[in-house]
Amino acid sequence: MLTMPKRLGILVGGGPAPGINSAISSAAIEAVNSGLEVVGILDGFQHLAAGRTDMVQPLTIGDVSRIHVRGGSILRTSRTNPTRNAEDLQRTIKSLQELGIAYLVTIGGDDTAFSASEVAKAADGALRVAHVPKTIDNDLPLPGGMPTFGFETARHVGTQEVLSLMEDSRTTNRWYFVVVMGREAGHLALGIGKSAGASLSIIPEEFAQEQISVWDICRVLEGAMLKRQVMGQMHGVAVIAEGIAEKMDPEELAQFPGVEIGQDAFGHISLNEIPLATIIRRGVHKKFADRGKKLSLVDFTLGYNLRSAPPIPFDIDYTRTLGYGAIRFLLSEPEDELLRHGGLICLRDGQRSVMSFEELRDPATGKTRVRRVDCGSEHYAVARKYMIRLEKHDLANSEMRTKLADAAAMSPEDFEREFASVVNWDGDAA
Ligand code: F6P
Repeated sequence: MLTMPKRLGILVGGGPAPGINSAISSAAIEAVNSGLEVVGILDGFQHLAAGRTDMVQPLTIGDVSRIHVRGGSILRTSRTNPTRNAEDLQRTIKSLQELGIAYLVTIGGDDTAFSASEVAKAADGALRVAHVPKTIDNDLPLPGGMPTFGFETARHVGTQEVLSLMEDSRTTNRWYFVVVMGREAGHLALGIGKSAGASLSIIPEEFAQEQISVWDICRVLEGAMLKRQVMGQMHGVAVIAEGIAEKMDPEELAQFPGVEIGQDAFGHISLNEIPLATIIRRGVHKKFADRGKKLSLVDFTLGYNLRSAPPIPFDIDYTRTLGYGAIRFLLSEPEDELLRHGGLICLRDGQRSVMSFEELRDPATGKTRVRRVDCGSEHYAVARKYMIRLEKHDLANSEMRTKLADAAAMSPEDFEREFASVVNWDGDAA
């Protein structure tokens, strides 16, 4: 009797990240070599959730064998949330059933991991899911401190861009403010700022308080710029993590021109609708103008130009192993009850390590745990110590305080009062 090969679907959700095509390629090759029929599902969960089964394409080894070096995603991607309501979830399951898909590889970040686990649970044994974690934000708590794929390429390309801006800032004697993507986590901004040796990097994790104001950030920048001025430099590059905006009061932000406070399908603030770099540039401009100083300042945003870049060898190598591992996991007997419906494919010391979807969630909130920068780590301390920004020791040193106050055209006492909140790091004593 002729048996039909089982079908495997591959889809991509969330923002692009370098290495997606390599993960697709590797998973498809191993699936075909294991006797499965492979279909690529276009645009994430978008069409499945709408009940459409025609937005798929067969994937053969010939289709995927050379795509591993390409940026972007041959299957495109979307932020459709198939769990937004019961109807969408049921339509998604039904579409997958109609397509005869028994195994699903999802490639995505925290939101796609959440969707994948809900879909697998709702399919109740009819589907097994392997989720391959990607995001340039590096904010998933992967075992062994491994980065999410795409992060290393984004950091590499972003560092080149910032190095180029640093040269421009030196040449034209001006400051650049560069806002970098990363959602709630500052990994990418810090990674780029530290690697390029930018004047300073500001990330959300360094602020202990729940909420910060636009003016808190302007003050940090102003302090750093005055310090550089005292050191005889009128130029510099500041890297600022976009997640700073998530710590700001939406009502305060809404008062700035061009700001729209919206949410995406997963309930996250749409950071692309907040022109953070421009808001901060104008704020710092005003602070210097208030004391009669004119500045040359340019703002820049890095993110969309990094996400679809061709992957560097690290991400190609990494995703080839992850894609292969996804298929080996799907075709194996689950070694743990928690992995019955699926799991998250990770790499630890060169070996596959599968994390359950439960492990990824915060038991208190039910949401995906976010990996943030640890500001108590040596990794952060080195980045911070090599920045030019106001620290406690600058205010404690009376000679330096007087020079800074002179640069700001203030009395040393007023200077200390104004900038006391900026010197928020205790690690400089170490
Ligand atoms: O993929 C994550 C991310 O790159 C974040 O850093 C960023 O905030 C978000 O995507 C923006 O994506 P989009 O505008 O495509 O929704």
